[in-house]
Amino acid sequence: MLTSPELSPAQALYKKAKRLIPGGTQLLSKRPEMFAPERWPSYVKKAKGCRLTDIEGHEYLDFTTMGIGACLLGYNDPDVTEAVVKRVESGSMCTLNYPEEVDLIERLLELHPWASMGRLARTGGEAMTVAVRIARAATGRDEVAFCGYHGWHDWYLASNLKGEKLSEHLLPGLDPKGVPSCLAETAWPFEFNQIDQLESIVKRRAGKLAAVVMEPMRSAKPTAEFVQKIREICDREGILLVIDEITAGWRFNFGGSHLALGYEPDITVFAKALGNGHPIAAIIGRSRSMQAAQETFISSTYWTEGVGPVAALAVLDKMKVIDVPAHVNTIGALLGDGLSRIAKQEGIPLHIGGCPALLHWAFDHPENLALQTLFTVEMLKRDILTSASIYPCWAHSPQDVERYLDAAAIVLPKLADLLGQGKAAIERELGSPVRHTGFSRLN
Ligand SMILES: Cc1ncc(COP(=O)(O)O)c(C=O)c1O
Repeated sequence: MLTSPELSPAQALYKKAKRLIPGGTQLLSKRPEMFAPERWPSYVKKAKGCRLTDIEGHEYLDFTTMGIGACLLGYNDPDVTEAVVKRVESGSMCTLNYPEEVDLIERLLELHPWASMGRLARTGGEAMTVAVRIARAATGRDEVAFCGYHGWHDWYLASNLKGEKLSEHLLPGLDPKGVPSCLAETAWPFEFNQIDQLESIVKRRAGKLAAVVMEPMRSAKPTAEFVQKIREICDREGILLVIDEITAGWRFNFGGSHLALGYEPDITVFAKALGNGHPIAAIIGRSRSMQAAQETFISSTYWTEGVGPVAALAVLDKMKVIDVPAHVNTIGALLGDGLSRIAKQEGIPLHIGGCPALLHWAFDHPENLALQTLFTVEMLKRDILTSASIYPCWAHSPQDVERYLDAAAIVLPKLADLLGQGKAAIERELGSPVRHTGFSRLN
C-alpha cells in the first residue's frame, strides 16, 4: 500500500515522493514545506498565464514566484509555445547542431555591445559554474569573491567549508558535506553595496581572486559609487567581473539590469526568464575572457538540444515589443501598496520589502512564520496561491491584483484577531505545521 487513504491525492503523492526522492522535490523553493506543509497543492496538471490547475482539478490564481522567476511572460506563453512545438515536431535533438544557437548568441551580443562571444547551457547554476571556470582559466587564479545566491555547485558551497558563512550572508543550513575540503577558503562572500567588505577580501587574498561574482541588484539598487568601485577594484587587481542576471535579467530591464545600472562586466550570465520556462542559459563576455573557454573542457550533450534556443528567441522577439519591466513593476507596486493599506487598516505590522518586481513581505511579529502559513492556507481556500515572495509576470492584470486584495481584505482581519493571542492560538487555528524557512532536512 503506497498511499494513506485519509490523505488527499496530492498529499499522498508528496508523502510517496519523500520516500522515493531525497528532499521530496528537485528544488528547495518548490518544497510544499516552504509554503504550507500538508496543505499546499504541490503538483500541477496544467498552467496557463497566471493560473494553474492542480492534480485534483482545483484552479488557482498564482501570485507566488511564477516558476521561481522563470515564467516572466506567464505560463505557457502562446508565442513561446508555438516556437517550441514547431521545433519539437521537426526534431529537437540530433547529430547536427541547431542554427538557432548561433542566432541566439548573435542576438544577445547585439543587445550587449560590450560582449563579443557567448556560450549556452541550460540551467542557472551550471551556467554560473561555466562562468567561474572561464574566469579561473582566464586568470590562472582559484578564488572567488561573491555576493548573493548563485546555485548549488562546489565552487559556491565551498564558502561554507570553514564556518557557515552563507548563513550570515544569505541562507541558513546549507551544509557543504560532499564538497571537497581542499576547496576551503576559495569562495568569499561580501554584502551588496558594502564595498569595504570587498576591499578587505581583496586585501587579504591579494593576487588570488579570479572573479567577483554578483547580481546587479535584487532587493535594492546599488549606489553609483558601489558600481564604479567594483570596476576599479577589478581593473586594479586583474579580477574578472561576473554579473549574474539569472533572476534580475529582463525583469528590471530588457537586456539585463547591468545595462541600466552602469556596470561594466567581463562576463554576464542569463537563465530563467530567457526561456520563459524552457531550459536555456547563456554566458556572454568579452573575447579576452571567453577565449579561455577554449583552453579548458566545458561541454555537455543537452547544451546542444534545439528547444532552448528557439524558446529564447521567441522570448526576445516578444519582449522587444512589449514593456515587461514596466508592467511587472506596476503590478508589484499595486499589490504591495494594497497589502500595506489593508494591513494598516487592520493594525497588522506587515513589512513589504524588495522592489515591486521582486516583492517579499513578512509580519513584523515573533510568530511571523506561523502567520505567513495561516495567510497562505486561508488564501488557498479562496483559490489563490501565495507566499512570502511574489514575482509578478506579464500575464498578471490589475484585475488579478484586485482579486488578490479582495481575498486579503477578508483574511488579514482574521489574522489581526490572533495577533495578541500568541503561538498556540495561531497554530490551533492553522491546524497543520508551520512553514519552513532556509534549508532543513526532511524526514
Ligand atoms: C541569482 C541566481 N543565480 C543562480 C541561480 C541558480 O539557478 P538554477 O536554479 O537555474 O540553477 C538562481 C536561482 O534561483 C539565482 O536566483
